[in-house]
Amino acid sequence: MQDLTWVPLFPEEASSFAWQVDALYFYLIAVSLFFGVIVVAGVIGFAIKYREKEKFATPPEIHGSIPLELFWSFVPFVVSMTIFLGGAVVYYNQYKIPEDTMEIYVVGKQWMWKVQHGTGQREINELHVPVGRKVKLTMTTEDVLHDFFIPAFRTKADVVPGRYTTMWFEATKPGKYRLFCAEYCGLNHSGMGGWVYVMEQKDFDNWLAGNLSDQTPVQQGEDLFTNKLGCASCHAGGQNQRGAVLEGIFGKEVKLVGGQTVIADEEYIRNSILNPAGQVVEGYQPIMPTFKGQVTEEQLVALVAYIKSLSGDASATTAAPSAPAATMTPQAEPADASN
Ligand code: CUA
Repeated sequence: MQDLTWVPLFPEEASSFAWQVDALYFYLIAVSLFFGVIVVAGVIGFAIKYREKEKFATPPEIHGSIPLELFWSFVPFVVSMTIFLGGAVVYYNQYKIPEDTMEIYVVGKQWMWKVQHGTGQREINELHVPVGRKVKLTMTTEDVLHDFFIPAFRTKADVVPGRYTTMWFEATKPGKYRLFCAEYCGLNHSGMGGWVYVMEQKDFDNWLAGNLSDQTPVQQGEDLFTNKLGCASCHAGGQNQRGAVLEGIFGKEVKLVGGQTVIADEEYIRNSILNPAGQVVEGYQPIMPTFKGQVTEEQLVALVAYIKSLSGDASATTAAPSAPAATMTPQAEPADASN
């Protein structure tokens, strides 16, 4: 069952769950073929058996049969439940993001994929990942709907304007695999693709080292936060603290004005930057100006990464999960994510 790629229509299997997707697919084909053959054979067989032998013959009447009714209700029920359960298990494995992933940010744009690693490296229409490591992509788009699709990994996810979507995979074989946009997004949709390079960890480390990085997303976010956008003037603590405390907030439940609670995830932070009055934290005034139109999706990604790092979310970088958390005080050095 492990490798079904001898079928020439199928791309290579190169992720940890690719075989599950293929197994489910082949199961569906097997079930369809089995019943297809029975139905077609029945149609032909009965057409021959009950063909007109004499004009205006009256056939004997047939009444219902309880056992037969039960049989053809029960069997399809069991078969469809196996399909449902198989699909649910594969879907769960594929879209439940596991712990301790390496995080990479992806921004779609007519008509290219812009990728940024936790250590700062950027690439366009290419994605380099190490083999045998769980990788999480956090994705959004600057314009229209796109869809990030890696056939060899048997995974794809829509990339939606105005929100973050995520997907994950663990590549199992070093190599070069196609990357596509799988959502019609305009004139050059068919050209919006590239390559995923799966490398041994050592080669990947070399690649990272050889591609001297810009600031990491966390550093870039901190720069925006303290200097360019001036978020720190209200959010950095001290006497001037007028905005919500951001330290330790990520992933926690936050109480809003009006009594509602939300989880402070990537989406919430993004929304709070673009539409601050929408979900105000209890105890604060709705005085924050909107940053809509002033920050790009890539800058938003950096700000979110920085705010995550204030909660010690080490996955914001590619450093080992035990890496020390970034500190809160704006004067302090950002956590060194480059090693
Ligand atoms: Cu982007 Cu199609």
